[in-house]
Amino acid sequence: MYLNSINLKGWRNYQEEKVTFDPGINLFLGNNGQGKTNLLEGIYFLSTGQSPRTSKIEELINWRSQYFYLKGELHKGERKNIIEMGGARDGRRVNKIDGVPLQRLTEIAGLLSAVFFMPEDLTLVKGGPAARRRFLDIEIGQISTAYRYTMGNYKKYLRERNALLKSKYPDKILLQVLTEKLADLSGPIVKERNDYLQKLSLLTRLKHRKLSGNIEELNLRYNWSIEPGLSRQQVLARFAESSALERQYRLTLVGPHKDDFSFILNGVDLRAFGSQGQQRTAVLAIKLAEIELIKAETNEYPLLLLDDVFSELDDERKSLLLEYLTDRVQTFISSAEALPPGAKVISYWIDSGRIGERI
Ligand SMILES: Nc1ncnc2c1ncn2[C@@H]1O[C@H](COP(=O)(O)OP(=O)(O)OP(=O)(O)O)[C@@H](O)[C@H]1O
Ligand SMILES: [Mg+2]
Repeated sequence: MYLNSINLKGWRNYQEEKVTFDPGINLFLGNNGQGKTNLLEGIYFLSTGQSPRTSKIEELINWRSQYFYLKGELHKGERKNIIEMGGARDGRRVNKIDGVPLQRLTEIAGLLSAVFFMPEDLTLVKGGPAARRRFLDIEIGQISTAYRYTMGNYKKYLRERNALLKSKYPDKILLQVLTEKLADLSGPIVKERNDYLQKLSLLTRLKHRKLSGNIEELNLRYNWSIEPGLSRQQVLARFAESSALERQYRLTLVGPHKDDFSFILNGVDLRAFGSQGQQRTAVLAIKLAEIELIKAETNEYPLLLLDDVFSELDDERKSLLLEYLTDRVQTFISSAEALPPGAKVISYWIDSGRIGERI
């Protein structure tokens, strides 16, 4: 399965453009601010119904348009599918597959998915724990509706419990009820996170070994607030232990909303000691692992979008990455510079929202 072409109308700095892609590696070259990232964002939007940069439809619409319209043609052997997405300034949206409107965006997941890597993703290694929890919630949510549902409930009760702790005289019975709700929801959340991280960790280690030419060993280390496999009684005991501190801080201090994981490279924490290139390689490895997890789940490789990722990889790592991608994953790369010679890529030149001929 691959994306054969895309039409962009009123999308970001594009007025009306159509471009046909290669099933292999597509490279978008151009000066700063010309529309390379905007094009990748359009491809990602078409695959998932959301933008990695904004949740506001209005920002996606060209300043001179009233709406945007994207149309993609998918090829899979002899079969063709058309995906269409549109959005208006008042927030209205239309999404269609082969002319039939979708009830829910998740319907698209079986047909097309994508993995995006942009420079901001380095916060996964460098940033605080909230970025890593968000990553887990989005990734697990993509493959498990049960997780999305449980997590939604957990966040709701957490907000209520925190609000209660902030009140002058918290109602003890209500506090106990909310504590039990959180304890009951923690079990399934921690279990799903643990299952996912086990698979992700193994695959990330393998991908990273390849990218680093077997010289570095990357591991994900989890820091659980409540570790997996505890009984309800044990979880409730954890809440009881922290109750004095909770009254002091007026916040819920234990539970999955405090979980974190770190990237350990050859035994040391990448967040504190990794070089830029090493941090970037680690994020790349986790993204490639995600690709394999999606493949296992849906039987299809997702599209891979790499925004400005090449600039900090050395030639050796660039070549190893391209070698892995070739003939496997349809890839879209934006870059201000050409790739190492010999790479099997189709290049396009982007200039002020116009996509030039293949070079
Ligand atoms: N809704 C919009 N309507 C019109 N133009 C927009 C809109 N949103 C962004 N732009 C323009 O798009 C341009 C940025 O495009 P983009 O981020 O794709 O650049 P790029 O080619 O990736 O550049 P760089 O190499 O710096 O990353 C900006 O100049 C911005 O003004
Ligand atoms: Mg860019």
